[in-house]
Amino acid sequence: MTTKFEDYLNKFTESEWLAAIEKLLPAIHEVDRNAVQIWFRFYPLELFRYLQAAEDKTKAAQKFVLQGDYELKNQIDSSHRFLYGHRFWKETKAEIENRAASFNDETAGLSALIEEIARSVAEKLKADKSLTIGIAAIGLMTLAQVGLEAFKTAKGETEKPKGLLAKSPDQIVKERLKDDSQGVFGFLKTVNKKFTVVYDETERDAKFSIIHDEEIATGSARNQTKDWRAADERCWEGVVPVECRSAACGTCWVGVLGGEEKLSEVSRLERKQMKVFGYQQPEDDKPFLRLACQARTFGNVSIVIPPWNGVFGKKIYGVEDVELEPATTSAKKLRETIASGTSET
Ligand code: FES
Repeated sequence: MTTKFEDYLNKFTESEWLAAIEKLLPAIHEVDRNAVQIWFRFYPLELFRYLQAAEDKTKAAQKFVLQGDYELKNQIDSSHRFLYGHRFWKETKAEIENRAASFNDETAGLSALIEEIARSVAEKLKADKSLTIGIAAIGLMTLAQVGLEAFKTAKGETEKPKGLLAKSPDQIVKERLKDDSQGVFGFLKTVNKKFTVVYDETERDAKFSIIHDEEIATGSARNQTKDWRAADERCWEGVVPVECRSAACGTCWVGVLGGEEKLSEVSRLERKQMKVFGYQQPEDDKPFLRLACQARTFGNVSIVIPPWNGVFGKKIYGVEDVELEPATTSAKKLRETIASGTSET
């Protein structure tokens, strides 16, 4: 039997969750603004619900060509390790469990509930609320997908970041904007400029070199510093999983935490295919979800690699019949909202 709190969370559709996140975006620190939106695309509620309701879940997963670990129940404490707010997970998880125990249906809505939890955690830790909203939202969605019992069973452990995420939020944002120096005569260089792709901000050396105008997947393939396949069998070429290299399979999707403006614009093919795969890429020219075999780099970028991939857009979102609405505020609209200092939260 589910609790009142679970029943409340289960009332909302994926679109309503995304709308709540969109409403809260201006109040979320820039360090986690892309990250929280990426996380909600990495763990789509409608796909989860479809699989839960399927008579034969294994068959359904095969039909969607799901590869890798797509279930939150296996990664309750770790799915959000790429967020700055991950460090507040233990306290956020405890606060959500408190709310679940005392829930009486009197709440002003999903975004208000997320904010209340974020405020409470921030007060306890003397942290800024802008840093706890993202992890509070993720915690609630995690509970909605795994159920209260499993949620409570997780230990609430967090990893201490050793890489870029060990810095302050403002420093991280600044670092993401920087490009590698091209040397004293760098200004003379045209085609042979080199940049860096960071693929895990929590680790010091988790990066590879990339050439100006090269696809992320091509740079990833040159980095043979580890046996990538030993950790993830989808990674037969490099740290970024790939298969077709032609926007046909959906294996290489990545989230862009920073530097999305330094990537090539989304082509018509990439945009169409992202919908077919089911990856809810916003309608921006340079969104935070990309196919690594299509996105070319013109500067340093920071990415996060999802632990799974699949093709489910047709069944879950009906993309052949319906043109998907952009799920989030476009980057431009968001920048304007923040610049005007207007927050709807
Ligand atoms: S490798 Fe198949 S879509 Fe990029």
